[in-house]
Amino acid sequence: MTRLRVAVLASGRGSNLGALIEARARGQLDIDIGLVASDRADALALAHARSAGIATVALNPKSFDRRAAFDHALFAEVAKVQPGLIVCAGYMRLISADVVADWLGRMINIHPSLLPAYPGLNTHARVLADGAKEHGASVHFVTADLDAGPVIAQARLAVEADDTPERLAQRLLPLEHQLLVATVARFAAGRLALTARGVSLDGAPLPGPLVLNPEGNLE
Ligand code: GRF
Repeated sequence: MTRLRVAVLASGRGSNLGALIEARARGQLDIDIGLVASDRADALALAHARSAGIATVALNPKSFDRRAAFDHALFAEVAKVQPGLIVCAGYMRLISADVVADWLGRMINIHPSLLPAYPGLNTHARVLADGAKEHGASVHFVTADLDAGPVIAQARLAVEADDTPERLAQRLLPLEHQLLVATVARFAAGRLALTARGVSLDGAPLPGPLVLNPEGNLE
């Protein structure tokens, strides 16, 4: 099987991208990262990519008169590397529905909540404000609705009494990294797909999201 080529979209610090790069370097993730694309030229993720020898592109949304025009331009750059998978890793923009449709089943996102709970921003603060006992992260296929596509896998984390939004985010982050690496590895092995009936694993419909176990594997 040829190695999966991945394009990563990131707007910020790029620690999830870093986790993919490190897993690949350790020999735990058999992928090529063909491109890191961003809506922010100053994203730390781009510096991370460059120092790992990965090609980068950044386009400024303000240079385009419509959101869709920006998306088409950015995804035209992404398409040039012919990725088998696009990973949104802290990519902070909504993507136009027609662009999402072009990549349906080939684009995933990592989100810091146990979806379908807490889509959108400020998830850690909202979890604490609600007094929720459990938090976590989800990797899902991207569909046109924000953070609402079929969930592939989740990492769960018990909320602690002295958690602040910052502490909770900090405790969750290493789990996000393991979750993303493990999910991309499953995809790279050709085991995951999006079908009309939802997520399938090894050709069979997944009854519910895979769960990250303490060893860092999905079960
Ligand atoms: C992560 O919490 C991710 O789940 C969310 O944005 C954050 C990005 O972090 N979508 P990083 O840029 O990967 O460090």
